[in-house]
Amino acid sequence: MCGIVGYIGDKPVVDILIDGLHQLEYRGYDSAGVAVQCGEKINVYKAEGKLENLSSVLMQHKDEYSASTLGIGHIRWATHGAPTVVNAHPHTCNCGNLVIVHNGIIENFKELRVKLEKLGAKFKTQTDTEVVAHLIAYKYADTQNLTKAVQLAVKEIEGAYALCVMHNNDKNTLVCTKRNAPLLVGIGNNEFYVASDVPAIIKYTKKAVYLNDNQIVTLSREKMVLIDENGNELQPKIETLPWEPVALSKMGYKHFMLKEIHEQPDVIRNILVGKLHTTEEPIVLNEVKLTRETLKNLTRIQIIACGTSLHAAMIGKYIIENFCGIAVDVEASSEYIYRKTVTDANTLVIGVSQSGETADTLTAIKQAKAKGSHVLIITNRPDSAMAREADSLVPVSAGIEVSVAATKSYIAQLVSFYLLAMYMAEIKGSLESSVLKSLKTDLTQIPQKIEQMLSHKEKIQQCAKIYANTKDFIYIARGINYPTALEGALKLKEISYINATGYPAGELKHGPIAMLDESMPVLSILMKGSVYEKLLSNSEEAKARNARMIALTNSKDEKLKDLFDFIIEVPDIQELLSPIIAMVPLQLLAYYIAEYLGKDVDQPRNLAKSVTVE
Ligand code: G6P
Repeated sequence: MCGIVGYIGDKPVVDILIDGLHQLEYRGYDSAGVAVQCGEKINVYKAEGKLENLSSVLMQHKDEYSASTLGIGHIRWATHGAPTVVNAHPHTCNCGNLVIVHNGIIENFKELRVKLEKLGAKFKTQTDTEVVAHLIAYKYADTQNLTKAVQLAVKEIEGAYALCVMHNNDKNTLVCTKRNAPLLVGIGNNEFYVASDVPAIIKYTKKAVYLNDNQIVTLSREKMVLIDENGNELQPKIETLPWEPVALSKMGYKHFMLKEIHEQPDVIRNILVGKLHTTEEPIVLNEVKLTRETLKNLTRIQIIACGTSLHAAMIGKYIIENFCGIAVDVEASSEYIYRKTVTDANTLVIGVSQSGETADTLTAIKQAKAKGSHVLIITNRPDSAMAREADSLVPVSAGIEVSVAATKSYIAQLVSFYLLAMYMAEIKGSLESSVLKSLKTDLTQIPQKIEQMLSHKEKIQQCAKIYANTKDFIYIARGINYPTALEGALKLKEISYINATGYPAGELKHGPIAMLDESMPVLSILMKGSVYEKLLSNSEEAKARNARMIALTNSKDEKLKDLFDFIIEVPDIQELLSPIIAMVPLQLLAYYIAEYLGKDVDQPRNLAKSVTVE
């Protein structure tokens, strides 16, 4: 987590840093800071809370930095030490001459701190990062060379880091390095930009070098020198960023989340273009390199992901097992990496990630790859670290998602899973052509059905008003929509802070039913199909305990009116595709409840969109 920016050139640096940090706010937003070369000294400005607080601080010091053209900036998601001004980056050595920003976690910071204190380092913060500032400063005292100092210091560091360092004695130098955290260098005219992610620099340049782990880059206004960890000079691989600068605009919507929910029909249409031509033609996935042979030899599939992507993965399991008859396991990446995972060359490992850089998922797929598995990545970022590791790629093409709560990227992941499962089923010949045809036909009709729901939001707004003032919320479903219950609950929890939980409805009576009384809303995702009647019975059981019953349904069954206090109707759809349709009203419900409660919808407390620490 955390966002880093840096600049060396001839333009006013503070504007570039603040603009870049603004583009990186999705990586954290609990404090921010910049360090800029101001004549003979480096000035550090920091503020607690949102970026606008830092902007206000900077406004008061304009005269000090207006001529500055070298600096680094940081937006923080606290790991070690509370989000205070003191703990905000940049961090400095004792004398303030050396300044750094850091993304990641230094795992051996306690040992290093003890060692450095013995050498005379005076620690001012509770962060893990500060040890790096002192460590590099000591190496600099020995070598008088910033690149060399960084090279020596990182050899003693364990953990993940992206670092950007400047020193008051080197007024034409920025040194950057990384390990298991993203960092790229944008190239301009006698100027360089450094950032954790493309949006921070795309406005200024499309030419960039993605740093690989352990590489160290030294930037001056005139040139870039790239070396490996042993000091051997490397030829930088300059890439053209496949991005257009996008103005992050809400387009008249009150929040990005609401805008992104409304973009979903077009996102689906975009994904289908070029992949699903006609119902007669096979699905086209150009970057999937699974051969008939590989598929034939597959004994199982493992899908690994975190958060919302994990819920998409759970639906992926259901679809792949159903369409292809291959056993699929789904696991949270953080659990996958710390056990003796059985994975081999006959296992296909699918990593799902909106950002393509979630640390746990990245580590998990690297482990799977090392064991010989074919790694397929479903991601919204084809330029990400995960995509670079992939043997096969399914880009989800949802466009930039700004709101921390994932909406359109989730729907895009689901559509990608449908395409992938159909693609594999076509190669394997495991699904009847009439079934495939009906899936393809119905998939193309989904955008229109979502539009229909979006134009009738009043019912959901009404539901939100009735149920907003609850402390708890239960979502129940069965079968393919059980993950929809989990995702519905997660959305509500993330942005409204209501304690919402999703259960497989059959599990209700094994414990959670004890929670039910007249104050508890229970939302039943009651889509027609194989488990409809069973779920109806489970809903009856909840009703008998006086719960406040809500149905989300595509059924017109009259008897639902007696059972449920509130009914949200959705367009009809076949059961296998119902998770896409069912999710949209749940996103809206979470949104309207949070909005009604006056919460910070797009940037909920304690969360970050991209989690780059394990
Ligand atoms: C964070 C975000 C979630 C997201 C999860 C996984 O926790 O707040 O919205 O689902 O990371 O992210 P990924 O980019 O791997 O899908």
